[in-house]
Amino acid sequence: MTAVLADGATATAPWQRFYIFCEDLFKIYKIADLEVVALRGLDLRVEPGEFMAIVGASGSGKSTLLNILAGLDIPSAGRCYIGGRDVLAMSEAELIAYRRGQVGFVWQQTGRNLIPYLSARENVAVPLTLSGVGRGKARARAGELLEAVGLTPRMDHRPEQLSGGEQQRVAIAVALANEPPLLLADEPTGELDSIGADDVFRVLADLNDRMKVTIVIVTHDDAIAERVNRVVTIRDGRTAVESFRRIELHAGRIEARHDDFAVVDNTGRLQIPRAMLEQLAIHDRARLDFAGDRVEVRPEPQREERGFPHNVPGFPPEERRA
Ligand SMILES: Nc1ncnc2c1ncn2[C@@H]1O[C@H](COP(=O)(O)OP(=O)(O)OP(=O)(O)O)[C@@H](O)[C@H]1O
Ligand SMILES: [Mg+2]
Repeated sequence: MTAVLADGATATAPWQRFYIFCEDLFKIYKIADLEVVALRGLDLRVEPGEFMAIVGASGSGKSTLLNILAGLDIPSAGRCYIGGRDVLAMSEAELIAYRRGQVGFVWQQTGRNLIPYLSARENVAVPLTLSGVGRGKARARAGELLEAVGLTPRMDHRPEQLSGGEQQRVAIAVALANEPPLLLADEPTGELDSIGADDVFRVLADLNDRMKVTIVIVTHDDAIAERVNRVVTIRDGRTAVESFRRIELHAGRIEARHDDFAVVDNTGRLQIPRAMLEQLAIHDRARLDFAGDRVEVRPEPQREERGFPHNVPGFPPEERRA
């Protein structure tokens, strides 16, 4: 796929090297007088052809991010380039074209992905027909896609005649019908048992490998780290931790190891996990010491050690004294 480049951009701009490039992304929802900050300065970079996962607590902003990547929602501020396109600068017509041709989406709810009264093959043919592909060709292509997700024998079944995992595999075929370079899935295995989830993950890995489609999935599945190359943890609307899978050979056995890194944003901020802060009794401030090859983070000295408190006449006021 050729990236559409903005005028005057240099060949080395980071948004040209990454398929997804988000920097300092904000999303603020306003309901009446109340503002909810769903994303607060999120950075994310995804390589072309990568298969990666996003995890995080409920409410951390995962779906908000995925909806922005899908062109279903617009960020409030920040930078977001997908396939070289500036998402914040897209017109309504460009967004519609983007959603139709550049991205496939799989929802958690199996019922939301498929039309209930159509067979699997007819479901996959719908987006092709909408793009102007003739009926015969759409049918043939739908057959190929269902074969790619391992459902050739189930092609003429309606969703209610399929298991949850099979329905999600049909949904993946629907999402990839128009050959988008990007596939997004928001908790695609959230409603499946472990066997169904396993099949879905296997199909995604296979499609990523064969079709080189870039895949970003949001998941709560604990086993995800074993299945993708990189897991990004979102905390409070920001990317906090990145975990990379490393394959090692131990006594003739292949073992997967994970290297976890705290994300440092472009202003130098990084998040220290709450459990570590609590263990070190770090509250408002920390002391940073450069130790040659590392930076040491320690709690600030007690107020008394710093020479506080001073006795200030009249403070606190009489009525507030214990
Ligand atoms: N349309 C909306 N209007 C107002 N607030 C919203 C909207 N969508 C999301 N939010 C709020 O934004 C924050 C992030 O929500 P989001 O759905 O992205 O979280 P999530 O990480 O996907 O959570 P979950 O794991 O429960 O799906 C939450 O506080 C949520 O209440
Ligand atoms: Mg969500």
